[in-house]
Amino acid sequence: MTDDDLQSRVHALRGDFAPLLLAWQRRDGRHDLPWQNTQDPYRVWLSEIMLQQTQVATVLGYYKRFLERFPDVAALAAAPQDEVMAAWAGLGYYSRARNLHRCAQTVMERHGGAFPRTAVELAELPGIGRSTAAAISSFCFGERVAILDGNVKRVLSRLLAFDGDLAQQAQEKRLWRQAEALLPLSEADMPAYTQGLMDLGASHCASRQPQCLLCPVAGLCHGRAEGDPARYPIKTRKLKRGQRENWWLWLEHEGRVWLQQRPSEGLWGGLWTLPMFDSEAALDAHSRSMGVAELEPLPRVQHALTHLDWVLHPRRGMLTGPVDSATPGHWVAREQLPQYALPAPLKKLLD
Ligand code: ADE
Repeated sequence: MTDDDLQSRVHALRGDFAPLLLAWQRRDGRHDLPWQNTQDPYRVWLSEIMLQQTQVATVLGYYKRFLERFPDVAALAAAPQDEVMAAWAGLGYYSRARNLHRCAQTVMERHGGAFPRTAVELAELPGIGRSTAAAISSFCFGERVAILDGNVKRVLSRLLAFDGDLAQQAQEKRLWRQAEALLPLSEADMPAYTQGLMDLGASHCASRQPQCLLCPVAGLCHGRAEGDPARYPIKTRKLKRGQRENWWLWLEHEGRVWLQQRPSEGLWGGLWTLPMFDSEAALDAHSRSMGVAELEPLPRVQHALTHLDWVLHPRRGMLTGPVDSATPGHWVAREQLPQYALPAPLKKLLD
């Protein structure tokens, strides 16, 4: 599709798209999520970071507990990193939690504890990308800025039958420009409009089997008019998934478990896990040198990450003597476990 065609499409839709989406959002959209009905950028920011790559249903409990523990940006900035990680543990994508903490500290140090009010300034903070910045400033301050997360890319590329390959940055930028051209004129409409795009992407305009009969903008949708809206968005680059295998040594002694903290960068950065080995032989050698009498193999644990299928093989060891002092980590009593940031599969295993 040429730029001229695209622009005339957007031009023809401009008057109708936002009003229809707004009317639908106000009638049928979501209004009672805990991060709605507030203009507090701390709460909105926290929800947007948690909701990246994570379902609403999962976020709800974490969001509530997190706010109880860190009620405002000052409390979060002042907290030790371990406590932040422990509150995040199980949500995954832990760089989000490290950036969240750094972002809170930056807001305290550079902005006197008040989040900046424009998307451009928000996007300079750690962990806040362009779309998240726009979500925060449109929800909290009515700024007329476009969001373009994965769901919204799907909604808009279908609406416009946008045939550019979104794996290419130039095409993504081109779609951003269309998203901007479609914004409603009034700042007062921005929160409902932004939410409407998210709600449509999360409901009728789902990736598979879009429910066009229920869609408020079906009559405007070029993807639907062509007959196969699910062909959009077009993105050629496929994610290559890696494989990884590790062996976990589960040592228990008098009701305590031996845990190690992972380095702060990389997989499960900053989280506490069982000592981990690259091969069964390495685990065996280490266990023998520590005087572990017997190793009990437990069923493998499969853990899928965005880029990686991870298989973990737990081996439970019975310890006869003390752990040798060359092994990093320390004993953690079972009652203390909730205070440690454990990855979800380990939490499940230890339970
Ligand atoms: N996903 C990202 N932001 C969201 C929001 N504000 N409401 C529901 N789901 C979302």
